[in-house]
Amino acid sequence: MSESMPRTIADLPAQRAATPRSKAEARARYFNSGNAFNVKLSPIPGDSFTEEAALALHPDTRSTLFACDRSRELQCPFPATTPLVLARYARILANDTLCTNFAASGVVVYVIRGDGSTRCGEENVVWATGDLLVLPGGIAQAHTATSDSVLWIVTNEPQLSFEGVRPPAAGEAPTDVVHFTGAEMEKQIDLIYSIGRTNEIAGSALILSSDRQEASRNVLPTLTVAMNSLPPGGVQRPHRHNSVAVALIIQGENCHSVVDGKRKDWAQWATTVTPATATHSHVNNGSERAKFLIVQDGGIYYHTRAMGFEFVDR
Ligand SMILES: [Fe+2]
Repeated sequence: MSESMPRTIADLPAQRAATPRSKAEARARYFNSGNAFNVKLSPIPGDSFTEEAALALHPDTRSTLFACDRSRELQCPFPATTPLVLARYARILANDTLCTNFAASGVVVYVIRGDGSTRCGEENVVWATGDLLVLPGGIAQAHTATSDSVLWIVTNEPQLSFEGVRPPAAGEAPTDVVHFTGAEMEKQIDLIYSIGRTNEIAGSALILSSDRQEASRNVLPTLTVAMNSLPPGGVQRPHRHNSVAVALIIQGENCHSVVDGKRKDWAQWATTVTPATATHSHVNNGSERAKFLIVQDGGIYYHTRAMGFEFVDR
């Protein structure tokens, strides 16, 4: 056996047709079960975005967007907070309009502070602090602030970029404009607490959906949005799932998470990432009900029957 002979098929480089008769044949590459499944991807960073939040909220900041971008760490050729999800903060000064047109199938917007309105196609939604909007992708949005405003905006742009596909044409997105007011979400959370739950139910989260996504319990086929909460002294049972979680800390004094055994202290308005499959629990040592808004790529895993949810404390 010569020295250059591979020891096993794992040592083979990508093979090509020796004598291609066309460009199409020349483009073909051949791998095998030894060398095709050893691609090493970098792990999903599980840190928090506090600088982007501080910049968006800083008094001197002009109207602009701040992406929570980990594309370098993820080795992605497009902006991404996690492989399929991108979060941003938007600052919009009073009387300014910020126009966005994300290459996504839909857009989730939470109002951190301020009030104003968003025009999307024929519809105009008037929003205030604590409201949440879901907007269809493929249509430009004009966000006009009445008072100095900060928004948290999450999309599935990386999912479309990964596939190299365009956003849906106008009118063909999987959602219409949907408005969840802060007051109604509070009422719905109070209802959840007043009825109570068993220990087999994973937390006291309010899951947001819409008429068109009612069957999926999502806001978009792939994105799941939950307003999660934790009472003072509460601990969410340690669990894991295959979806990644991108969360905005709304109220979380003296709260922390434990992710794969590591403590992560919460900071208000930070965006935190819980990597897919990581074991995690949340702890509220404060005196107020903790609130955190979670966007997950859960729809993909439900659809593929691969959510992999499990409690890990038994
Ligand atoms: Fe979770």
